[in-house]
Order: sequence, then structure tokens, then C-alpha cells
Amino acid sequence: MTAPLVSRLPRVGTTIFTVMSALAQECGALNLSQGFPDFAVPPALLQAVVQHLQAGHNQYAPMTGVPRLREAIAAKTLAAYGVAPDPVHEVTVTSGATEALFCAIQAVLRAGDEAIVFDPCYDSYEPGIELAGGRAVHVPLAGPDFRPDWQRFAGALSPRTRLVILNTPHNPTGSVWSAEDMQQLATLLRGRGIWLLSDEVYEHIVFDGRRHESVLLHPELAARAFVVSSFGKTFHATGWKIGYCIAPAALSAEFRKIHQFVTFSTSTPMQHALADYLEAEAQHWQQLPAFYQRKRDLFCRLIEGSRFGCTPSAGTYFQLLDYSAISDERDVDLARRLTREARLASIPVSVFSVAPDPAQRLLRFCFAKDDATLEQAAAIIRRL
Ligand SMILES: Cc1ncc(COP(=O)(O)O)c(C=O)c1O
Repeated sequence: MTAPLVSRLPRVGTTIFTVMSALAQECGALNLSQGFPDFAVPPALLQAVVQHLQAGHNQYAPMTGVPRLREAIAAKTLAAYGVAPDPVHEVTVTSGATEALFCAIQAVLRAGDEAIVFDPCYDSYEPGIELAGGRAVHVPLAGPDFRPDWQRFAGALSPRTRLVILNTPHNPTGSVWSAEDMQQLATLLRGRGIWLLSDEVYEHIVFDGRRHESVLLHPELAARAFVVSSFGKTFHATGWKIGYCIAPAALSAEFRKIHQFVTFSTSTPMQHALADYLEAEAQHWQQLPAFYQRKRDLFCRLIEGSRFGCTPSAGTYFQLLDYSAISDERDVDLARRLTREARLASIPVSVFSVAPDPAQRLLRFCFAKDDATLEQAAAIIRRL
């Protein structure tokens, strides 16, 4: 008889996104839980995919990404942040940001190393850290604004710290780091052998005239960083799973050693189509903040008069709502109950923290939805 397989990730179950989306489907609930748009990919981008499929771009892409897409990413980065990464040595196309995050973690961490993450924290980071033999050190971001507490961060640094993972704009809270935050981080990391992994998948979804503080805007940080983004978020195409990583040549070289044995390369026709679209339609990502700000404002306006507390999100397509005036239930229980009884699915925020604040009463709603869906959701919220 064979011995039972001992799990490498004994604490990992099915992600909350899968659980809530499945429950929403089972209950016929409106799904504002998982973060995906319910509106169309830009038609010109779809046409470009069809064109490249028919043109025969159907075999393996180069391991590091289709050259013209890497060039288009470098050009977009220059337009957005005033710095142009070298498309040959510093830009790598990946199968979604998820793959890029995983490869960057594996490239850096060795057994016994520590990686600092900020809680609430996106759920893919810690399993990646554990698979590398590392240990996640969780630094809480405190509500209501969920900004980093730099004193606490300084206290979490140790001789074993090898990596810091940050995420701005932030899922699930919608908070956005400031230039001051980046300076604090640079000061605290100065002189230490610590790498940085900056998850910037919502880079083009920031509101109220704020600037997205990409790590790429901060040379001292960029010199030690893997900066990760996702076309899924920017082009309403989360199912395509195309992302990329920008990092200095020496870091990219190690990153690519992992990437080539995780996926080797990423869908060829999609890469060509994205290159076409980036070259021709720069205004798409430039108009994204206004596009999503209108959605955020609509959602917040529609729920006015409800018993939920709402501080408008600063970035991402997520809005936190505070239900402390409605119920004392745990957020996990309330999220499930609302899905079953009110037919509205959301995500409980506590699942993103190892030690959630017991007084916190927050649900996360995704407003990347058609206006009609947002109106239906708000009508339910106003009745609760
Ligand atoms: C913070 C964050 N990072 C990474 C990802 C994964 O991006 P992708 O779908 O491109 O793998 C997501 C998706 O929801 C996310 O919210």
C-alpha cells in the first residue's frame, strides 16, 4: 500500500473566490464577489485575436514573450511612468499576474527566508512563499484607511527577511499607497539585501486624480523590484490570463529560469493581439480611471440611504461596505447568508488576514459590472 500523500500546503483549501462564485451560481445570486467585469472586451481587441488566430500565430511564443508585445509594454511603461524598461532583458510576459507572482517568489526565496506581506493580503502570496520553503510575516494594515504602519513594518524586519510583497492599488480594501509610503519603504530597505515584489495589477484603476505610485517611479526601489501587472484587469479580459513582470536584467534572468519551467511561454495569438491594441489604442488604459470612477460613483450613489457604511474606494474595482449597523455576524457568515437569502454575493474581508480585527465588519463588492447589474445589486443592498 502506498503511504498517503502529505500535503505541501496543508492549510490551503478552495479559494474564497471559487467558493463564493459557486455559491452565487447555486443560489442564482448576483455575483459581486469575484473580481471580474461582466462587460465586453474592446471589440478591436477581439478582432485582433481572431485575425492572429487566422494568420497562423498558433505555435509556441518565445519564452520571454512575443518581442513586439514586450516592446509595446516598454512603450506603455514609458508613457505611464517616464521610464522605459529594456524589452529584451527586463520585460517578461507571463500567464497572468498569478504566474509572475509565483515565479518572482521562487526566484528569490530559499528555505528559512522570511517574506513580509501586508494583511489583508491577496491569497496567492503565502502559498508561493511556503512552496519556496519560506515563511510569511504578516504586517497588518489597519482600517478604516488600510495604510501601512511603517513602525510596525520596521519591527517585522529581521536578518532573515529576503522579500517584501506589496500591492497598490490594494485588493481587497481599495486603498492606494502614497509617494510618502514609497519613500518610507525605500528608507527602511536601504542597505539591506531585501528584494521587492510589487503587485500592481490595478495600476490603471485609481480615482479622484491620485497618481498610481508605481515602484517604477522610485529608482531606489525599482533597482530591487519585480513589478507585476495584468492585462486581464486593464482590458476587461480576466479569462485570458496574460500578465507581465518588469525587473532589472539580473532579476529578470533568474525570474525567467523559473518561468520557463512553469509555463515556458504564454498564448501566442493573445500576445500579438495585445501588442496591436496597445500600439493603436493607448487611450484605453489612459481612460480607465475615469471609466471605473464613474462606476464607483454610481455604485456609491445608488446605495445611499442604505444601512451600510461606505468610504469610496481610492483604487481597484472593489468597494468595501461596513455592515456594523446591520449585523454582528462574522463576515464569512453574513456573506454566505446574503448570497443565499438576499441573492447577492460578496467577499468577506477577514479571509485575507491571518489575525483579522475581530471588530471589523466589512464585505467587499466588485463594481466592474454593467450599470444595470449595479442597480439591481444596490436595490438589494438598500433593502437590507
Ligand atoms: C491583487 C491581485 N494580484 C494578482 C491577481 C491575479 O491576476 P491574474 O488574473 O492576471 O493572474 C489578482 C486578480 O484578482 C489580484 O487581485
